[in-house]
Amino acid sequence: MKTARKNLVPVDLLENFTTDLFRAVGVPDDDARLCADVLITADKRGIDTHGVARLKTIYYDRIVHHRIQEPVTRLEIVRDRAATALVDGHHGMGMVIAARCMRMAMDKARRHGIGIVAARNSTHYGIAGYYVLMACRENMIGITGTNARPSVAPTFGVENMLGTNPLVFGIPTDEDFAFTNDYATSIIQRGKIEQAAREGRRLPPGLVITRDGGTATDPEKILAGLISGAMALVPLGGIGEDTGGYKGYGFATTVELLCCALQDGAALKDLSGFDRNGRHVPHRLGHFFIAVDISFFTEPARFRRTAGDVLRRLRASQRAPEAERIFTAGEKEHLAWLERRRTGIPLSDQTCRELVAMRDEQGLSNYRFPFEDETRQ
Ligand SMILES: NC(=O)c1ccc[n+]([C@@H]2O[C@H](COP(=O)([O-])OP(=O)(O)OC[C@H]3O[C@@H](n4cnc5c(N)ncnc54)[C@H](O)[C@@H]3O)[C@@H](O)[C@H]2O)c1
Repeated sequence: MKTARKNLVPVDLLENFTTDLFRAVGVPDDDARLCADVLITADKRGIDTHGVARLKTIYYDRIVHHRIQEPVTRLEIVRDRAATALVDGHHGMGMVIAARCMRMAMDKARRHGIGIVAARNSTHYGIAGYYVLMACRENMIGITGTNARPSVAPTFGVENMLGTNPLVFGIPTDEDFAFTNDYATSIIQRGKIEQAAREGRRLPPGLVITRDGGTATDPEKILAGLISGAMALVPLGGIGEDTGGYKGYGFATTVELLCCALQDGAALKDLSGFDRNGRHVPHRLGHFFIAVDISFFTEPARFRRTAGDVLRRLRASQRAPEAERIFTAGEKEHLAWLERRRTGIPLSDQTCRELVAMRDEQGLSNYRFPFEDETRQ
């Protein structure tokens, strides 16, 4: 997990810039800091597809250019009962909506053992892992899911119906990192296809299904095919039934249902972000957040030790002949952070260009990035 030596930017510079950029487009101070923290946490944890690489296309452009996302988040609490709540995010900042919902779920869990909050009319909330880690830090189990733009075909289908719909658990342990299975319910998500396109790298067959039931490997063509509807992503488990694709399909559908039916919210193709005339409209995403207070079951320290023991035993089990080691979920992100806090965050050339363009567009002339001074070889 070595960091590329190119375009390294110190973490605090990236945090300050991202916060100021969100402020510049109208996000209030505290919310701007939070949104920046969610994005930079992705970069710190090595999740390059969901950090500042997404700042322009998923947040900045939607606020400034497409005008389908509100920089000021007006969170309406539609229903609030003992352990449950339903909120309407009114197309505000997805990260702010998500963090507030998880905080509400945790407050409820502290009183009732469990708290569940559902959100509708939200926008992209970034890495799901951020919110479950909020719970882990306070001796709780965190669970969240979000729906997303339609890109995944159901088993035996070829049409992009479901989002990449992560279903993520955070479980505290006695180690330096929580167990966090922070991933999509499709084999691959769009960010990794964009990354492959940037690096000029083909994808393995079987991650994408074409209208004629075949597969595709050229990332540029796949990105275009996902937009035109000529291609769809494949759920975890793969194409068809033989390798259990219906299991990923089932998990993706579970997330879709929990992100729309409780909320009386939008689903499937209604989340595309376009109207019938191809005009940009809000994505109307839904999320759910669950917090479980471990102290209602057992001593948190005991729970953490048991959870840590299970993970240590898994990592210590017999390795495959070619494998260097066994990991548990959340570990690679922790290792990435140990490295990146020393080296800084590596950015692609395209992300560097986007940061400079947004900075200049917003007149944030007090910022200069190290890559602008690097001598190109
Ligand atoms: N907001 C959205 O709409 C949305 C949609 C999809 C994904 N996402 C986010 O995108 C990010 C990346 O998703 P992804 O699907 O590309 O993730 P991924 O396929 O890169 O998987 C990463 C996860 O797998 C674990 N992992 C990796 N190798 C492992 C190994 N050998 N053994 C055990 N665990 C291992 C990691 O610790 C991490 O939890 C996530 O943060 C996810 O929440 C967001």
